[in-house]
Amino acid sequence: MTTSSRLHVAIVMDGNGRWAIDRGLPRVAGHRQGAQVVHDIVAAAPGLGVTALTIFAFSTENWKRPPDEVSYILHLFVTMVKKWLPELISRHVRVRVIGDRAALPGDVRGSVETIEERTASCDGLHLNVALNYGGRAEILHAARTFAAACVAGTAVPEDLTEDRFGSFLWLAGEESPDIVVRTGAESRVSNFLLWEMAYAELFFLDVLWPDFTPATLGMIVHKFNSRNRRFGGS
Ligand code: IPE
Ligand code: IPE
Ligand code: MG
Repeated sequence: MTTSSRLHVAIVMDGNGRWAIDRGLPRVAGHRQGAQVVHDIVAAAPGLGVTALTIFAFSTENWKRPPDEVSYILHLFVTMVKKWLPELISRHVRVRVIGDRAALPGDVRGSVETIEERTASCDGLHLNVALNYGGRAEILHAARTFAAACVAGTAVPEDLTEDRFGSFLWLAGEESPDIVVRTGAESRVSNFLLWEMAYAELFFLDVLWPDFTPATLGMIVHKFNSRNRRFGGS
């Protein structure tokens, strides 16, 4: 059993395209359904003991997709912010976006800023949305930030510790994920939270993201509670 009252779940939400194709629908229909699932999981998470939820919405590699699909996914974020911001505030959800936001279209960046500002003082669930996020890009960003501090004379290499390095990551301030889930029947991490998932418990599920339910999350939390985390101890 975990004795911690904090529980951070990170999810690679995969399988939207296949869910749609299976139904003879365009891939974007899977992304739309996937967004509804995000809503339902955010609503259910606190009741399952989850205090932080980090979701992979768009990777630095996803730009390789057709421009229409890229645009649909990114603008789904804008639509969700418009539709669910009041509800998120009433649920006290604090939203942060991790990733390279400078490369996002202007209206998407605007929604990122709006949701972060409007939920900044919320003290409930921490919802971190990875948008134009890559684990290697995050580590590079942190390394560059520290190197710049060294060049500026405000830091020296010997000062660098794991905690200090973590403070330069986009996910700074959040405890590392306890659980990393990937849906969509693939057993890979696809450049998600490479630094942060060092000791996470991994769950690879066959279920496609649009079919994921609060009950699925409940099952994962239940299984997690019976795992023996040793962190290298005996
Ligand atoms: C995950 O679903 C969503 C994103 C990567 C944005 P996919 O779109 O990757 O769905 P599959 O893996 O092709 O089924
Ligand atoms: C991972 O899914 C990225 C997101 C869920 C946003 P992908 O579908 O992009 O990953 P690969 O291509 O199967 O590795
Ligand atoms: Mg995929």
